[in-house]
Amino acid sequence: MSRHVDTPRLSVPALRARKGGDKLVCLTAYTAPMAALLDRHVDVLLVGDSLGMVVYGLPSTLGVTLDMMVAHGQAVMRGSRQALVVVDLPFGSYEAGPAQAHASAARILAETGCQAVKLESCDGMAETIAFLVGRGIPVMGHVGLRPQAANTDGGFRAKGRTGAERARALAEARDADAAGAFAIVVEGVARDLADEITRAVAVPTIGIGASAGCDGQILVVDDMLGMFERTPRFVRRYADGRGLVEQAASAYAADVRAGAFPAAAETYGLRREG
Ligand code: KIV
Repeated sequence: MSRHVDTPRLSVPALRARKGGDKLVCLTAYTAPMAALLDRHVDVLLVGDSLGMVVYGLPSTLGVTLDMMVAHGQAVMRGSRQALVVVDLPFGSYEAGPAQAHASAARILAETGCQAVKLESCDGMAETIAFLVGRGIPVMGHVGLRPQAANTDGGFRAKGRTGAERARALAEARDADAAGAFAIVVEGVARDLADEITRAVAVPTIGIGASAGCDGQILVVDDMLGMFERTPRFVRRYADGRGLVEQAASAYAADVRAGAFPAAAETYGLRREG
């Protein structure tokens, strides 16, 4: 069901209070028109650094810059009115320590008007989360499969097969919670681990490739719309976006080549003056 048309933007405290309550509906968005379409259906729009692959065709999130995140954060804010908008801190913009993270996050909030940032909560990140939260910057954590750590973690493998992986994801989530994160994305972990994390933390968990037991779910919008050839196991396609684009482009091309577009009604027949 879509949300009421003139609902004010969902706030960070209101989202946090949804722990264990109504499921949180979250999608990524990168552009103003898509944000406008999604806005009334979701609680959270995440301007994810997945835009590196989805929008720019990069091989990973590692080449995404702060400038890109600011530009797309501004676009999503322009297009939306109700959803809580969260913007990812890109690789290299926060890991050096609290001061670097604060400069990057403050720039994102000031220049986009979004309400919060997300960061990947590796070991030692709790201090940074607490530093940001203590200075008025709401932080969403991200544990489990962490795309920015693909080189150290050995790719994009789901987590939770070994005891060490399970302990690490659980500890990262607990640390992020204790440090003041208002919600935690749990990505690519075994179902029972996602459930354990959800029970272990006081804030909402938002699953992707995790478990229906999480407090909410998120998908990359282009995956959800079926825009890619490959569909990962954890994605459910709600449309054949790819087929739709192919079909429309092929019909358009045929019309142009046949001289059937534009028709007279699609052109201007202005009367000449004088
Ligand atoms: O960058 C992104 O889109 C994300 C989501 C997949 C959670 O981090």
